[in-house]
This record gives sequence, C-alpha cells and structure tokens, in this order.
Amino acid sequence: MAEATHHFPSDFEWGTATSAHQVEGDNSNNDWWEWEQRKNGKVHGDVSSAKACDWWAGRAEEDIQRMAELKTSTHRLSIEWSRLEPEPGQFDNAAFDRYREIIKTMRSAGITPLVTLHHFTTPIWVAAQGGWLQSDAPKTFAAFVERAVGNLSDLVDRWCTINEPNVYSTNSFFLGGWPPGKAGINDYYAALFNLLEAHARSYDIIHDQQPNAQVGLAKHMVYYHPRSISPLDGQVNRIVDRQFNGITLTALAKGRWEPLVGKKVGVDKWRNTLDWIGLNYYMRHNTFFDVSNLSGLGIGYGPRPAEEHGPGGWGEFYPDGLFECIKRLHRSLNLPIYITENGLPDERDRKRPRIMLEYIRRVWTAVMHNYPVKGYYYWSLLDNFEWAEGYDPEFRFGLYEVDFETQERTLKPSGELYGKIAESNSISSEMVRKSAPEAMDSLFPGGLGGS
Ligand code: FCB
Repeated sequence: MAEATHHFPSDFEWGTATSAHQVEGDNSNNDWWEWEQRKNGKVHGDVSSAKACDWWAGRAEEDIQRMAELKTSTHRLSIEWSRLEPEPGQFDNAAFDRYREIIKTMRSAGITPLVTLHHFTTPIWVAAQGGWLQSDAPKTFAAFVERAVGNLSDLVDRWCTINEPNVYSTNSFFLGGWPPGKAGINDYYAALFNLLEAHARSYDIIHDQQPNAQVGLAKHMVYYHPRSISPLDGQVNRIVDRQFNGITLTALAKGRWEPLVGKKVGVDKWRNTLDWIGLNYYMRHNTFFDVSNLSGLGIGYGPRPAEEHGPGGWGEFYPDGLFECIKRLHRSLNLPIYITENGLPDERDRKRPRIMLEYIRRVWTAVMHNYPVKGYYYWSLLDNFEWAEGYDPEFRFGLYEVDFETQERTLKPSGELYGKIAESNSISSEMVRKSAPEAMDSLFPGGLGGS
C-alpha cells in the first residue's frame, strides 16, 4: 500500500518538557510547598507534591535515559530558585552541583538542555517580602539569574527566563487559586508588569555573561474565538484575548504596557529582549456575553459542550488553534519559535496518540509554510504534580505513566508513538494507521495516492 509521510527539516528538534517543582520532590523552600501544606482546599485532594517524580534524590538520571530512548535531542527543565538561593543572597553550592550533575548527564545522553529560570515557584523568603507584587522583585530575581547563569553557562546556552507570565499572574494574582491567593485586577497587573520587567533584566544579564546565549520566554496562548457573530460576543472576545494574550505580546513586541484599565506607558527597554519566543499551547475557549455574570462585565468563556475538551475548566483540544497561534506570534514578534509546551490531560492515554498527531501535523503545516518553528517540546515526559490539580488522575500529561507509590514508570502508547516521530523526524500514514486509525481521513484527506 502507498504510504504518505510528512518530513520535518533535518535540523528540527524534538524534545520533552518538565519543571522543577513538578518532578523533583521535597521542594520545601518555596511558596507552592507552603501552600500545599496548608490543605486549604486549593489543591485537589489537599495533597502535597511530596516526592513528585523523585528527581532530586536520584531518579532524574534514569528519566534522562528515557529521553534518549525516545530519541529526543533536547529537554526543557527548570531550576528551582528556592534551592539555589535558600536565603537572601546566600547560594547553595551543593544544589548547584546537583543541577550540574543532572545537566551533564543530559549532555552525555545527547540531550541539549533548555533551562527555565522561573516556573511558577518563588522562594518563601521572596514571598514573605511581598513576592511579585513588590517592585524590587525583578531586581531580586535578576541577582539570582546572574548567579545561576554564572554557574551553569559552560553547560547551558538556551535559556527561558520566565514560564507563562500571563498564566502565573492570572492564577496567583487574579483568580486566587495559586499562591499567594490574591484576586484583584490591580494585583494581576502589578505581578505581570514585574514579571515582564524581570524578564527584560534577565535578558541583559544573561547576554552580559554569555554573549552567545539564546534567551527566550514561554508564552502561553489560549486560542479564543467568539461563540457567535453577535457584537457582544465579539467584544467579550477582544477583552479576554487582550487581557490574557495581548498585553504580554504588546509589551514584548512594542515595549508598551497597555493594560485594560490603568495607565498605559512605554517601557522601551522591554523591546528586543528575545532571541526566540516559546509557545505553550493547549486549548481553545469560546467567548460569549454571559448575562448571568454582569458583575464580571458579562465575561463568559469555555468549551462548546459538543466539542472534544479536557476535564474541569480545560478548554477544547483544538489543533488548528496551534497553527493560528504560531501565525500570531510570527506576526507580532518575527522570531524563531519553539513550541515549548503542548500536550493534553488524558488519564488513560486514549486520546493522546490521535491528538498528538493532529497537533504535530499543524506544526508541520506551519513549517511547510516557512514559519520559523525550530523545535517541539512535548509536555510532559512523565506524569507529574499538576499544581492545583495535584495528582488528580484526570490530569496526567506524561508519555510515561508514573505510579507515585512505587515510582515505577511505564511507557504509554503515545510515548512509543512520540519516540517514532522523533526518531524518523516525521509523521507517517503508517504511524497513524497503527496509533490512531480514526484520524486517517483528517490527517491525509487526499488519501494515500499511488492507486
Ligand atoms: C502549563 C504549565 C505546566 C503544566 C502544563 C499542563 O501551563 O506551564 O507547568 O502545568 O500547563
């Protein structure tokens, strides 16, 4: 039978992603750990991240071998500020040594590290000073970055300053679901502003020490779409999109701080502070004017019930949105793009193979249209601690299943598929037939040719 194959360029990079708090275990010196111990009903099941995937105590090494077995060539990890600077200005050399050991193991396994410097967690001592709400936070963070980069620059040259400033400021400072549990528009803007400032300072500091470094930021994009052509739905869409996506893009692209309420200012030094942009994409939300939420400006959003979507408040799995977000990032920033996260919560790995193929196919389409997408990091290598969802089985993202009692790992069918994609640098009709035959028409709508 004839086969069809979508090849990627030979220098395209395949990787996986994790973050420190979600995999390391015993990260007891940051605000998330403290939040978990409060058992305040804000983490599913009131659990602690506890041992997570036990990386810090020694299991990182075996999981790095798994990255190699999947034939990936890069991995996105984060380093934990609260381990490296447990007290103001005091750095822990043993913690640096442990990261050096982990990163060296990666390099010897042929895995290029992409290191994130802030992934949602903040040291307790920083939080006690007012955390990201105080205007000194960017300076405090930049001092840590200087030390971290100084220590690791012989091993790392691809840096991500801040993971998803928009998600972090929304969940921690606007919706109150994450530490420090603040819920107000002013706090949201203050935190987001300080995170962007921290990014810009870090960019300069990294380049001062390491001129060849490639520095970026991971931008979470939700693809918002109005539910109808009603002008009210359209207006809600514009507000929600600007609040969540647009403010950060305008800040980075134009050096302009343009909140929906409050003073607009130019912050010129934010411009040209990216060598690449990371896209974290997971979902589409439909936006609509919600008469039952007039106190909240009538803002409504969510998945259409008829569309395939994730659990809880998760939106629709909408692969076309990935291509749309790539186009938008290109239009706004015109930089090399890495997909720094993409994946889905899927407890039993039933949907993951098909949806993964659909997503990767959109990445291929973008590359074939010459959009500068350079690599793809699947979230996540293995099941891990999923923030407010804790260890809820519905929120498992891994290519490897983890039994958190025994720390045993099992490769899922989607993991096997991803390994084949990475190894062959392609997606093929043979893979689709084997892993998700129901997606054949969608992925190869022109048939397989040849007959
Ligand atoms: C992203 C986070 C990551 C993980 C995935 C599912 O927003 O960056 O840590 O929680 O969602």
